[in-house]
Amino acid sequence: MKRTTGEYEHTAVAGEEVAAFIPYPLPPVNPPLTLGSEHGVLLRTAEEGLRRLELAAAMVPSLEWFIYGFVRKEAVVSSQIEGTQATLIDLLAYEAAGEDSADDSGDVQEICNYLDALTFARSEVAREGGLPLSMRLLNQAHARLMAGARGADRLPGEIRRSQNWIGGTRPGNAAFVPPPPHRVQDTLSGLENYLHAPDDLAPLIRTGLLHVQFESIHPYLDGNGRVGRLLIALLLEHWGLLSAPLLYLSLFFKRHRDEYYRRLSAVRTEGDWEGWIAYFLEGVGTIAEEAVDSARELFDLVTTDRAAVLSAPAGSMMAARLFELLPQHPMLTIARAVELLETTRPTATKAIQTLEDTGVLVENSGKKRDRVFIYAAYLDVLKAGTEL
Ligand SMILES: Nc1ncnc2c1ncn2[C@@H]1O[C@H](COP(=O)(O)OP(=O)(O)O)[C@@H](O)[C@H]1O
Ligand SMILES: [Mg+2]
Repeated sequence: MKRTTGEYEHTAVAGEEVAAFIPYPLPPVNPPLTLGSEHGVLLRTAEEGLRRLELAAAMVPSLEWFIYGFVRKEAVVSSQIEGTQATLIDLLAYEAAGEDSADDSGDVQEICNYLDALTFARSEVAREGGLPLSMRLLNQAHARLMAGARGADRLPGEIRRSQNWIGGTRPGNAAFVPPPPHRVQDTLSGLENYLHAPDDLAPLIRTGLLHVQFESIHPYLDGNGRVGRLLIALLLEHWGLLSAPLLYLSLFFKRHRDEYYRRLSAVRTEGDWEGWIAYFLEGVGTIAEEAVDSARELFDLVTTDRAAVLSAPAGSMMAARLFELLPQHPMLTIARAVELLETTRPTATKAIQTLEDTGVLVENSGKKRDRVFIYAAYLDVLKAGTEL
């Protein structure tokens, strides 16, 4: 045991006696966080990775290019960690076909909700007079995340009023029992205080601490993992480590999911903040580097394809214009192209045809009506790691 990171309260849930964990406020004390030279290396690598990601994003004509794809990647993977059965391709197909497409399970809707929650939270903190980074903001983001049929009985936007537990089939064999409802408010106030209090620890390390603290409190009936990972994205921007949500860190958690859960637990059971921080920093460094590589790859691909489109025999202004829209619309229908180009159906069809002839667009469905065209090479790079 490195240190004690909280206390237990014995309560009865569903007829069983359980020990609910109440985390001490941040930062870690007795002893304070003890970072070795290996942490120093991991921290510098992670910070450098974020700087390089920021630079990579600055290469493209519009930052929205990468935000579009990378944010969706994070939304998909963060949702997959806890069992959402939809891929990046499912999400894009849904967005391309709009109302027409099928999403019977509601899985894609859940991912759209995540995007809505993130967009909302970012615009609030950016807006003059908007909500600051706070529990009120996270609650409103949670309301959006839980919107729709699936989340209706999970108190969207509200702090839980009952005891919950994680893992196991019943409270008695749970992996973790978070604070009893009457201790949720004060532990959350502590979290908020820490968020705005001065601290000598590097912002990236504070971000890692706050994620665990949020998961330990588990303030909602559901959606705690996703809101807690959304908090990471918001903090990276809040503390100036990135200017846009380009780090799809959930991919690291998905790839090393058992370790993710194990490290979260070890903070409670062994007081091991240091082990969590090493894992977290390694994740930031790894994903930042992968995102830089994939940004470069996407940029190179677009550069090569643009040259091909511009020199196509049947090349046209419209085809060139449509091509420039593809990074933000890597799947589209003819109807969508008509809208985007503000042109007629024959003209849009011809532009798509040109991009198909050049090998940029590939037709995805056999259906005659509402055919979907995809920028396949682009999506092949972007979708890495988002398969089920
Ligand atoms: N042992 C643990 N201790 C603390 N937090 C945990 C533990 N195991 C999992 N978690 C966190 O709980 C999340 C799942 O909680 P849940 O409310 O179902 O969130 P979501 O519905 O967004 O997946 C995980 O994604 C993880 O962040
Ligand atoms: Mg859940």
